[in-house]
Amino acid sequence: MKVVIVCVSVSHGNTERVAEVMAGVLGARVVSPEEIEPADLDSCDLVGFGSGIFGMDFHPRLLRFVEELPGEQRRKAFVFTTSGLPEPPFRRYLRRLARLLGHKGFDVVGTFSCRGFDTWFPFRLVGGIGKNRPGTADLDAARRFAERLTA
Ligand SMILES: Cc1cc2nc3c(=O)[nH]c(=O)nc-3n(C[C@H](O)[C@H](O)[C@H](O)COP(=O)(O)O)c2cc1C
Repeated sequence: MKVVIVCVSVSHGNTERVAEVMAGVLGARVVSPEEIEPADLDSCDLVGFGSGIFGMDFHPRLLRFVEELPGEQRRKAFVFTTSGLPEPPFRRYLRRLARLLGHKGFDVVGTFSCRGFDTWFPFRLVGGIGKNRPGTADLDAARRFAERLTA
């Protein structure tokens, strides 16, 4: 199974750590949007898309990459994120990205999220929140999520 994980992890490397655990299970390559051409995804059986959450959405670099995909082929995908706070009910960013990927021909077979160390203002004033996240339990959950994708 050929798997590529497209990941933007700019704040603390939180999402990158999750991506690497998933990549270990899936035998995947982790790349940034700038390191891969959309056409390179054509030969993939499964593509992961992940980033931290910034202003209640995925990172703009990841969203731009997805928006610019041609959407010609049906492929499987999964979506993952780390964020300082849980996803609010009024802003379902995981579902929004899954829907956008659906418009691009992807069948989204799973989503994963966990907390990540967050120093976004005003949390910075108190030294940040989620200091040890993603932690062992988060990374174990990420591993199990990836194992289910291979089943
Ligand atoms: C400028 C900025 C904006 C952020 N906005 C949000 C947000 O809207 N919701 C949230 O839950 N976390 C927010 N965060 C926290 C990040 O999503 C969190 O730290 C994430 O784990 C960062 O992932 P990374 O280290 O892989 O980049 C924000 C962080 C920064 C620096």
